[in-house]
Amino acid sequence: MDKIRIVGGHQLNGSLPISGAKNAALPLMIASLLSDETLTLENVPRLRDVAQLTHILSNHGVDYSVNGKRAGEDAMTGQTVHLNAANIVDTTAPYELVSTMRASFWVIGPLVARMGQARVSLPGGCAIGTRPVDFFIDGLRALGAEIDIEGGYVNARATKGLVGNRVHFPKVSVGATHVVMMAAALARGETVIENAAREPEIVDLAQCLIGMGAKIEGAGTETIHIQGVDRLSGFTHPVVPDRIETGTYAMAVAMTGGDVTLEGARADLLENALETLRGTGAEITETNTGIRVKRNGSGIAPVDVVTEPFPGFPTDLQAQFMALMTRAKGTSRITETIFENRFMHVQELARLGADIHLDGQVATINGVETLNGAPVMATDLRASVSLVIAGLAAKGETTVNRVYHLDRGFERLEEKLRRCGAEIERIAAS
Ligand code: UD1
Repeated sequence: MDKIRIVGGHQLNGSLPISGAKNAALPLMIASLLSDETLTLENVPRLRDVAQLTHILSNHGVDYSVNGKRAGEDAMTGQTVHLNAANIVDTTAPYELVSTMRASFWVIGPLVARMGQARVSLPGGCAIGTRPVDFFIDGLRALGAEIDIEGGYVNARATKGLVGNRVHFPKVSVGATHVVMMAAALARGETVIENAAREPEIVDLAQCLIGMGAKIEGAGTETIHIQGVDRLSGFTHPVVPDRIETGTYAMAVAMTGGDVTLEGARADLLENALETLRGTGAEITETNTGIRVKRNGSGIAPVDVVTEPFPGFPTDLQAQFMALMTRAKGTSRITETIFENRFMHVQELARLGADIHLDGQVATINGVETLNGAPVMATDLRASVSLVIAGLAAKGETTVNRVYHLDRGFERLEEKLRRCGAEIERIAAS
């Protein structure tokens, strides 16, 4: 397996491009199943999760093609992909394909809405807690689907089509909101989703669905109204910039010091995280082309955070922020409220010399003067990148093992950081 080798201690300076959001690209690709016409997505990141989803969609019969290189494009420019689901040949998403990525379970919504049936393996994905699927099942049942679970598969049937209804989620769920919104787009009558997720990726999917002819109001608020239509058409839609990638590089700069412009980033997608970073002493400004992050000289101030659904501080930036806090001048507390097992990076950060105490869902971090490079192990997607950030600021050499997690969600990470002066390289497995 590939490793990443980092020699820490260099400031980051310059600019780097922000890719399209993984967490928007995945549901947008899945939305292609709702139409027999071509859905074209622009600014799709080159990631392992995206490639994995194309396998799953191809297995259902979706034709997938990528535009060739255009003038002015470089390897950092997002891809334009065309997805056509005119002929769905199989409504089963098998274990071998679904088990590596939780979001692939989401095909269940469009498949049962358009085809009246779906058989989808229970999901896998990052090992960050139990991540059940009860909200998906209850939501689709509310729309009239008959559902049973058998042999590790969820079987959903709606032979006469889905029917709009009120769906109230007991807890905010990004995935369940995506799935019920997609399914309701083709149901008969009105669906009202209450306690809906408000993440920018929900808004991005809703905008695309509206472009395809769906009648959706309120995406980005707690209550989404969907008036079902008979069919959806083709559309061309650009994927929203990745706010988690943006926040990750902003934290890297806050940690190493320097001055970097994150090209294409949108501050309105992560106001809470940027405000938190300002509290640590980083200077953050919006420019015409993106977000500029600067920290020179002064130390890192400790700030407490609690992860929350959007617009709160995102759980997907928790590990990276913890890396930053390991070098703060004082003590900070990080409370994880979304996933019960999302502190696997703590032990690895400790290998670099971090002083962190865990008590249930609360981590107390006593900032240390220096981190020292060491071999560490990537455990999940966001945890892995927190180790990279810490390695960039640590003295000496850090090797991050099992980097396939990083490739699931960060496009050309080493190249982007190297552009800004980091000493970082990938060592291919021999
Ligand atoms: C999505 C993101 C992930 C992010 C997470 C929270 C994608 C591809 N992934 O994951 O990066 O960390 O949102 O912002 O967009 N839950 C249930 N029952 C369910 C569904 C969820 O109890 O049926 C719980 C989960 O265990 C968790 C909470 O709800 O505690 C939120 O999870 P959810 O928002 O659904 O996360 P994902 O959509 O899987």
